[in-house]
Amino acid sequence: MHTTTEDLWLSYLDELSENDYFIADDFITDEFYDQIMNYFHKLEQDNELKKAGIGAGGELQVKASVRGDFIYWLDEARDTELAPFFEFRDEFMYLLRRFCFLSLSGSEFHLAKYPEGSHYDRHLDQFGARSNRQITILLYLNKHWKKGDGGELVIYTDSGDIIVEPIAKRLLVFKSDVIEHEVLTTQVPRYSLTGWLLHQPESLGYLFG
Ligand code: OGA
Ligand code: NI
Repeated sequence: MHTTTEDLWLSYLDELSENDYFIADDFITDEFYDQIMNYFHKLEQDNELKKAGIGAGGELQVKASVRGDFIYWLDEARDTELAPFFEFRDEFMYLLRRFCFLSLSGSEFHLAKYPEGSHYDRHLDQFGARSNRQITILLYLNKHWKKGDGGELVIYTDSGDIIVEPIAKRLLVFKSDVIEHEVLTTQVPRYSLTGWLLHQPESLGYLFG
């Protein structure tokens, strides 16, 4: 799916340690991009995407005023179309354990669609029932994205606000406990694959989110 060499990975990990995030463009091949989107559109047609909530378990609330996306939680055993993505996840977790000494033992990923006019207020991914989220991973899937389409991600860092355009095949990784971020209102349907590396094998959020 990607041809990232170990040296390049190490420079990404350096960026992650230093700046709390990194961006890798053209992270997947065109073929795998098409494979993900074909699967995504099939799930949409089958009505498999559900309104996302905020919080988890007893705290779960569905509030479009905070968060307007629709999601589909991935299951590695069922969603075999995305197998190359799970291979990347395994390799990345291995490198994070080995070079960043993170104790990671699980993950949770979903496909997300923000319909036209939706957004996600500024927030931190690690909070309350989501306290086991260590690393946030976003793979953007918007092929013909152009300025004016909206849906940019703003990440708030110590060295200023950074605007990330959600263009196809762009990977963004950040530390879930420190990076506050916000999805600006999108003017067109906005697609992504989003997930988290966890320091516990199971998250209740998986059941309710
Ligand atoms: C999230 C989130 C950002 C994005 O799902 O928690 O902040 O760019 N997503 O889709
Ligand atoms: Ni978030």
